[in-house]
Formats: sequence, structure tokens, C-alpha cells
Amino acid sequence: MKGSKIGILELRDDPFIIDVVSKLGDLPIEFLSFAEQTVPITGEYGVIVDRLSFRFPFLQEVAKNMSLRGSYVINNPFAASASNKLVDELIFQLLEIPSPKSIVLPGPELKEELGGMVVEPSWGRIADEVGLPCVFKPVDGYGWDDVYVVNTPEELKECYASHGAGKVWLVQRKINYKYYYRVFCIDQKDVLFIRWIPKPSAMGEYLCSDLQEINDIKNKLTEQTIRMNSCLDMDINVVEWCVDEQGQPWVIDAFNEVPDITKNCIPTDYYWWIVDRFVTCIKDKLTSDKRNKHSFTLPTVS
Ligand SMILES: Nc1ncnc2c1ncn2[C@@H]1O[C@H](COP(=O)(O)OP(=O)(O)O)[C@@H](O)[C@H]1O
Ligand SMILES: [Mg+2]
Repeated sequence: MKGSKIGILELRDDPFIIDVVSKLGDLPIEFLSFAEQTVPITGEYGVIVDRLSFRFPFLQEVAKNMSLRGSYVINNPFAASASNKLVDELIFQLLEIPSPKSIVLPGPELKEELGGMVVEPSWGRIADEVGLPCVFKPVDGYGWDDVYVVNTPEELKECYASHGAGKVWLVQRKINYKYYYRVFCIDQKDVLFIRWIPKPSAMGEYLCSDLQEINDIKNKLTEQTIRMNSCLDMDINVVEWCVDEQGQPWVIDAFNEVPDITKNCIPTDYYWWIVDRFVTCIKDKLTSDKRNKHSFTLPTVS
């Protein structure tokens, strides 16, 4: 039997979670804490809403533990830990969803640690393959951290030498976009396009827009957004779509499984659309027998 409570892995004073909890009404809800036991007694919780573990490896283990013991964790911690910008890009190729050509590079420290197995990348070849200018960014980055635009093979080499250590990198074709969208997808079925002006350090601007400029491709992008989130097994995610000068759409970033939902930055109607759909998703998971997918074959627990 699945538990009847909703467990929350998020700070109590987060404004988005305060609104979600308020809309969940009388349902039994608890903010998880680890004072009494290392891992909470999981049978109690039918659903865990996890918006914190992406920053804390301990909480990732908690989330996996709870998921394996039967709680439905949003988002699936196994899917979240397997996914990154490179995995997503490879999946999009298989799904025939347009995403910029990307190449993966190890951090420069591996040249020493792995001896001859890893050599200095061939910058001219990479630039030819991806095209210039290109974007150099971590495969698992978020918050626009360590995202660099480079114009020449020499700049690419320099960027790698000065910023590369300790991370896995993508060199990605840079798309000259005309329009950019943050597209919320909830419960692998509800999709909301919001025009966005990208800017670093959480300074991006959401716009109210009638989306006329993508009128003829919006249904297709909606269908592709749902398909990719079903494949990635994300119950809440933001997919960043852009459209270039030729009208060609591209996915830039679909690795936002704990999206920023900042109340005073998102136009009110959009904000409450997100809260309402997320609340409905949580309620649905609480009342269904659905469990998170994972790759283990476990005996049925009675
Ligand atoms: N291939 C690309 N072409 C054009 N712009 C890009 C590309 N990759 C990243 N950007 C720009 O950099 C921003 C941050 O990159 P993104 O992959 O979304 O990283 P993060 O996960 O840190 O937000 C994007 O919002 C976009 O404006
Ligand atoms: Mg992004």
C-alpha cells in the first residue's frame, strides 16, 4: 500500500512551495527533516516533491531510497541523475528533435590522470565539426554558470585551459536565435510556452506574448516537448526552445528538472498556471499506483 502523505524536500520559506502547499489544501503534508533518523520512514509518503536534492548529494540518496521503497518522487531521482545536457542531446537525435551539434570533452586534468588515454583535443577539428562561434558549457550546468561563447580555435583552447578543470564539457554549435522560449512541461502532458529574453544571473525576462510568431509550429513543438519529457521521465521540466532567423526551431537546454519558478518574475497568469498544474500532478500521483521507473528488477513487495 502506498503511503497517504505528501513529503516535501524544499525549504519551508520558498514562495513557490508555499503556494503549492496552500493549494494542496487539507491533504496531509510534511516538510521532510532528518533530525530523528537519517532517512525518513518512507512507507508513510505516497509522494515526495523534491526541489532540493539537485544541490545536495545526500538528499539525492534520500530521494532514491524513498523512491525504491515505494514513494513516488517528483522528479524521478534515477532519471534526474542519469540525465544531463549531453544525454538529452543524444536522446533528441534519436527522437528526431532538432538540437545543436555538440561534442563532449573531459576536463584537462584527465590528460594526467588517465595517461595516454586522454590527449589534448584537436581544436581545429572540433571547430570545423561544430562551427564557429560555438558555446563551451558544462554538461550538467545550471543557472548559466560557466557558459562561454568562443569565436576561434585559439579562444576555445584558452577557455578549456583556464576554466576546464574538474568538469565534463560540451562544445556546442551556437544558434543565432530570433526568439527564445522557456517551455514548462508538467506531468508529461501540460505545456506552457513563455517568451523569454535570456540574460545571465537570473536576470532573464519573461514576456506576455500571443506567440503569433510560432503559430504554425507551436503544435509540433508542443508534441515534441511532451515526447521528450516522457522519454526523459520528467514530471516537471523547463525546455528552452529557440527559433532562428530561418524559422528553424532548436532545443538549447532541456536539463531544468528543478526549474526556477520565481513568483515576481513570471507573469501572474503563467505563474498560477504552473502552480495549479503542478498541484494537480501531485494529487494524481498520490491517488494512483504509479511508481517511479528505474532500471532495477525488484521482487514485488507485499
Ligand atoms: N548552443 C547555444 N546557442 C545559442 N545560445 C546558447 C547555446 N547554449 C547556451 N546558450 C545561451 O546560454 C544560456 C545558458 O545556457 P544553458 O545551456 O541554458 O545553460 P544553463 O543550464 O546554465 O541555463 C541559454 O539560455 C542561451 O541564452
Ligand atoms: Mg538554461
